[in-house]
Amino acid sequence: MSKTIAILTGGGDCPGLNAVIRGVVRAAILKRGWKVIGIEDGFDGLVGEVRTHELTLESVRGILPRGGTILGTSNRGNPFSYPVKENGETVLKDVSQTVVDNFKTMGVDALVVVGGDGTLKIAQGLNKKGLPAVGVPKTIDNDLKGTDVTFGYNTAVGVVTEALDRLHTTAESHHRVMVVEVMGRDAGWIAMESGIAGSADVILIPEIPFDIDKVCESIEARKARGGRFSIVVAAEGAKPKDGGKLVRVSADDNLGVERLGGVAAWVCQEIGKRLENETRSVVLGHVQRGGTPSPFDRILSSRFGVKAVELIEKGDFGKMVALKGRKVEAIDIDEAVGSLNLVDPDGELARCAEDLGIMLGR
Ligand code: F6P
Repeated sequence: MSKTIAILTGGGDCPGLNAVIRGVVRAAILKRGWKVIGIEDGFDGLVGEVRTHELTLESVRGILPRGGTILGTSNRGNPFSYPVKENGETVLKDVSQTVVDNFKTMGVDALVVVGGDGTLKIAQGLNKKGLPAVGVPKTIDNDLKGTDVTFGYNTAVGVVTEALDRLHTTAESHHRVMVVEVMGRDAGWIAMESGIAGSADVILIPEIPFDIDKVCESIEARKARGGRFSIVVAAEGAKPKDGGKLVRVSADDNLGVERLGGVAAWVCQEIGKRLENETRSVVLGHVQRGGTPSPFDRILSSRFGVKAVELIEKGDFGKMVALKGRKVEAIDIDEAVGSLNLVDPDGELARCAEDLGIMLGR
């Protein structure tokens, strides 16, 4: 039976979003003869005046290698807590019923929601209110449970690894300590895996509160072994053992979304107080989220998009596509959201790093 489905991308963008959109559109149109509607700017496109356009084979031509999302996105548009202007003030309101009503008026059978923890929680909430949705796990942070990996993460690790390779040569020339801040929110995956791939000397992650004195001791010990420079990779959520993470903008001041930042500058300053080395801090920021997806992410995103269409065909709603081993499967969205997938401080990856001689701040 012919269907009309819709797709939106929510939360922070990441490489591979366009590949998912293309996968959904091609699997829906070429194999099933369905119609696909793109919703603009995440859930924002379903609040107030509905903003959508039809997605055709032509509209997704050439987008597989393109970063970003042709649909636009927003990480501030949670319909269950939506910013609305009232008497000159911004207040948060539950507009989820408007979203469900607008969706129904569009005459669409099902919605593919591509997003991270926050966006998928919204999808699940809407699903419970009668909007049939399936989820696709996106985030460079790799902090979603239920899937071996999220798409976008592999690309981000590649970007950071290349940056670490570049920073090595300049750190070595000047005998400096370079402290590199990477994204990941409360998860240390990007720092840990890019740190291993990029041969970092110290990796600081949120899951292991760090001792700055021990970090400095390890830099000194490396110096004694002949290493005149050091590379420290600090996840933005990393925190000293007697302090908290560095919050640039609090959730209260940013419509419920906390913005982290500043740990590299802090670590740099503390090393400078204790050692004679010249130190520099580098914040890689949104470079990690931009640009073309890696081949791994192009393939994973395409497989996720195709699987999402298959789930809709079967009427399997409230599910999220997930990579399990080498297979793409479906799990309940509830399994993926609620708590985060974090690096195990005593797991194989952390032990591997330490056996390689990488200092983890403890
Ligand atoms: O969740 C993805 C992410 O890039 C985090 O790693 C980072 O903390 C955050 O988004 C940055 O968000 P924004 O784009 O709002 O600055």
